Amino acid sequence: MSNASLLILPGDGIGPEVMTEVRKVIEWFGAKRGLSFDVSEDLVGGAAYDAHGTPLTDETMAKAQEVDAVLLGAVGGPKYDVLDFSVKPERGLLRLRKEMDLYANLRPAQCFDALADFSSLKADVVGGLDIMIVRELTSGVYFGEPRGIHTEGNERVGINTQRYTESEIARVARSAFELARKRDNKLCSMEKANVMESGVLWRDVVSEVHAAEYSDVELSHMYADAGAMQLTRWPKQFDVIVTDNLFGDLLSDLAAMLTGSLGMLPSASLGAPMANGRPKALYEPVHGSAPDIAGQGKANPIACILSFAMALRYSFDQGDEAARLETAVNAVLADGLRTADLLGQDGVAPVSTAEMGDAIVAKLDASL
Ligand code: IPM
Ligand code: MG
Repeated sequence: MSNASLLILPGDGIGPEVMTEVRKVIEWFGAKRGLSFDVSEDLVGGAAYDAHGTPLTDETMAKAQEVDAVLLGAVGGPKYDVLDFSVKPERGLLRLRKEMDLYANLRPAQCFDALADFSSLKADVVGGLDIMIVRELTSGVYFGEPRGIHTEGNERVGINTQRYTESEIARVARSAFELARKRDNKLCSMEKANVMESGVLWRDVVSEVHAAEYSDVELSHMYADAGAMQLTRWPKQFDVIVTDNLFGDLLSDLAAMLTGSLGMLPSASLGAPMANGRPKALYEPVHGSAPDIAGQGKANPIACILSFAMALRYSFDQGDEAARLETAVNAVLADGLRTADLLGQDGVAPVSTAEMGDAIVAKLDASL
């Protein structure tokens, strides 16, 4: 693996403390597996706003375009609620996604055996669950024009626009079909074709791409509301789900919670291949900045550590090393180690963020 560069953007809230643990893991792979990364670090979100008056500077944006992969912690916090919309921490993340053109957001929802009891659903409904949501990330109602709040007559009107082009739908559909082929060869596409024209087009284009290029994959369609219902009723019926930006935002939170803890789940946001063949990529935990527990050593670093595992797999072609890291995480959980978010009825004393990171590194050592 030649000169792999990583830009780390810890962000706000628990972002910096979980990223400290990821750095231990990155260093381990450098020292013990010869995978060395040129790591640089910068600000995003509220942290960037505090320092520069913007949630993402042009310099940081340019750096993100140059590196092989970006690793992001989390953005946002109540302190920034009062800010103008245009400089809110979330805008920094949305700018990265948009300008890097990271159109395919991979959000696995996997139930760790040791944690099946933490789900609000019965253990037999979620045990062994392993699904992948592919969320379109650079278009739809998040970015469509016109948008804004203006005044009509004597009242204000808020406007956002759901807009999808054929090519935007086709490219994310291809990403999802490709993933399905590497998994159980089953894809379910979700939209609201019963209500929205963009949904009608979505269904048509996914079907066309299927017929022309992926007829070996089993394809089904579902209205997104029914999809939410089916995800809670019997989630194991799904393998890969592809859906738009807003439905994907909702459905991926729902799917994440099926597994027991949001603190466990990573994500990858991928774009087109760069000159070196690696996709433009940003990796981040699905959880947010959790300002209520920030700075207390309570946060679960696993989602962020598993995001680095996704980077090993999808950016650096190190699937075996990614599996090594995932196995180490499973082993630590099997030993009964729990951060505070994972404490249930069993009343085990929680370990700190740093203790969890150290335990994972110890399991990595043991894997050699
Ligand atoms: C997510 C988050 C973001 C989104 C926010 C922080 C902008 O909820 O990544 O799911 O809505 O996409
Ligand atoms: Mg979300």
